[in-house]
Amino acid sequence: MFWLAHLTDLHLFDDPAQRLRGVCTEETFDRVLATVVSRQPDALVLTGDLTQDGGAIAYARLRAKLQATGIPAYCLPGNHDSPEAMEQHLRGEGVFLQGTGWGSWQLVLLDSTVPGQVGGCLSPSTLDFLRRSLAEGPWAVVALHHPACAVGTDWMDVLGLVNAADFWQVCQGQAATRLVLQGHAHQAFETEHIWPTHTVTCCVTPSTCVQFRPCTSTLEVDSHGPAYRWLGLGNNGEICHEVRYLEGGKNTP
Ligand SMILES: [Fe+2]
Repeated sequence: MFWLAHLTDLHLFDDPAQRLRGVCTEETFDRVLATVVSRQPDALVLTGDLTQDGGAIAYARLRAKLQATGIPAYCLPGNHDSPEAMEQHLRGEGVFLQGTGWGSWQLVLLDSTVPGQVGGCLSPSTLDFLRRSLAEGPWAVVALHHPACAVGTDWMDVLGLVNAADFWQVCQGQAATRLVLQGHAHQAFETEHIWPTHTVTCCVTPSTCVQFRPCTSTLEVDSHGPAYRWLGLGNNGEICHEVRYLEGGKNTP
């Protein structure tokens, strides 16, 4: 198995003491990262809203923390991020802003952000990049910030991926697709897209800081603590995965 830790929606500030809805995002991220590192994954995938305001200081501090783990980290932007600042202050040795290959698997990172908007959209060139990447096979993990599936939380679902149908059309046409990882919703959600040729597991992972209560019509903060998703990728395309909460969650140790 190739072991992967999925972390998302860190919302780090330039000032590490600053809080988001009462939570010190730096402190919760540090604890999630320490927990994940103790499990010795082969790679980290971070799917956006890495910072709250796109701040250079926050990216530089995140880069240093990721590099200190010695584990390769693959990062993509969310609506709160600045792709330009990520290029300048986050990219570095062991911290990548593009995908990679892991044996019989490949990781495809997509930028679903639209400048000035909370919701997401994949441009025609990004969809074309996805199509070409998936054609390389044999198995693929696709990661993006905005959920390409409705999570059942009305106010959030209107802020997801506006052209999700185009995304799924590409995935349906490419049997290499096995797994889609997303953030943005600050809650756990899993579903499967089943076609005659292949099945795609679609996972939305909770935040490393504040969680939002599922199945609500307006934003409500959930009592679940910081979280990450742990995934195993097998040589034959098989997948195992689970969400782990550090505290206040259903599977609190
Ligand atoms: Fe987001």
